[in-house]
Amino acid sequence: MSSDESRRRGKFITFEGIDGAGKSSHIAGVAAFLRRRGLQVLTTREPGGTPLGEALRELLLHEAMHLETEALLMFAARREHLARVIEPALERGDWVVCDRFSDATYAYQSGGRGLERKKFAQLEEWVHSHLQPDLTLLFDLSSSIASGRIVAQARELDRFEQERSDFHERVRRAYLERAIAAPQRIQIIDAEQAPEAIKKMIEDIIAIHCL
Ligand SMILES: Nc1ncnc2c1ncn2[C@@H]1O[C@H](COP(=O)(O)OP(=O)(O)OP(=O)(O)O)[C@@H](O)[C@H]1O
Ligand SMILES: [Mg+2]
Repeated sequence: MSSDESRRRGKFITFEGIDGAGKSSHIAGVAAFLRRRGLQVLTTREPGGTPLGEALRELLLHEAMHLETEALLMFAARREHLARVIEPALERGDWVVCDRFSDATYAYQSGGRGLERKKFAQLEEWVHSHLQPDLTLLFDLSSSIASGRIVAQARELDRFEQERSDFHERVRRAYLERAIAAPQRIQIIDAEQAPEAIKKMIEDIIAIHCL
């Protein structure tokens, strides 16, 4: 790829963190922030982002399954998402803002459920050895504050949200491990702050790292 072509490629930004961290609340705001700078932005989510991926999401969030089946389906949905949505968008020069990506599989399936790290690494290598997000915003907060936010929503909980607090603490620790291993890519946001403070911090980080 010539340097001109690589300059035109869009940036890939992912949002990560335990359930109730505040990821989805900030996706539209970040997309608007980027669009104000004249960028084409696609927002999407995982698991999901394609018709097949959304069907797999329903199964993943609501059907009991072996932990390796869960990991394989997460990566199957991701393969489809990359091939049909994420890669074509980045090649067009669009920016992609995605609610969860492979760091979530590391955190939930390896950290939370105990999938061997080696198996996670093999799947990641298979599905996207050539691509990592340009920037990952990790919304970090205690599992008790996060679960308080979810309970306040008074809605039906999915299989992951129904897990006990020690599960969410393991997920949180695995996310932080992953951030230590990739300190440039993964920026930790203190998600216990007020939404306005978080919004400002996210915009500053994106301006420094991506614009
Ligand atoms: N900074 C914040 N302070 C207090 N409440 C917040 C904050 N950010 C989000 N919330 C509220 O917490 C709840 C969860 O937020 P949100 O749905 O954005 O989290 P999420 O990380 O996307 O969760 P999930 O992983 O379950 O999709 C919502 O009711 C939201 O309004
Ligand atoms: Mg969400």
